[in-house]
Amino acid sequence: MTRPVSSGKSAECEVSFTVNGELRTTHAFPMERLLDTLRNRLGLTGAKEGCGEGECGSCSVLLNGALVNSCLVPVLQAQAAEIVTIEGLAAGAQLDHLQEAFLKCGGAQCGICTPGMILAAHHLLHRKPDPTLEQIREGLSGNLCRCTGYIQIVEAVAEAARRRATT
Ligand code: FES
Ligand code: FES
Repeated sequence: MTRPVSSGKSAECEVSFTVNGELRTTHAFPMERLLDTLRNRLGLTGAKEGCGEGECGSCSVLLNGALVNSCLVPVLQAQAAEIVTIEGLAAGAQLDHLQEAFLKCGGAQCGICTPGMILAAHHLLHRKPDPTLEQIREGLSGNLCRCTGYIQIVEAVAEAARRRATT
């Protein structure tokens, strides 16, 4: 149930959703971007702001299993949703296969695109555990990188798929 906590046209509301398996409740302006709520109110700074216009994918998170640009999602749209951010992939100090593969293959340079790339790849491998290189490129097509030229990123996702198949 959403209820205003102060009067006036910009009153904040209470919002609750599950983030990385944990129920979180916070206050936010109804049209506040989910990206800002995650970063500024919940301290989850893994999702990055690149373009702020839905073009680069740096702010990607999973919302009820769908890959979304959190800079385009009003926080109230996430009420009662299940959200996964990059912080939710590692198990403590144990990195996810994708995170290890990005490290090994040099898939991260400045790192701005990396959380979104890894979440997009995670989403892809969930649907296609053994993707072709073309399917990897297609799966990452909504995520832009200005540093790597994409070759190392595609190699990293292929490497992660191989590791998943053997563990
Ligand atoms: S910051 Fe959201 S798509 Fe670029
Ligand atoms: S590593 Fe810099 S934008 Fe991708």
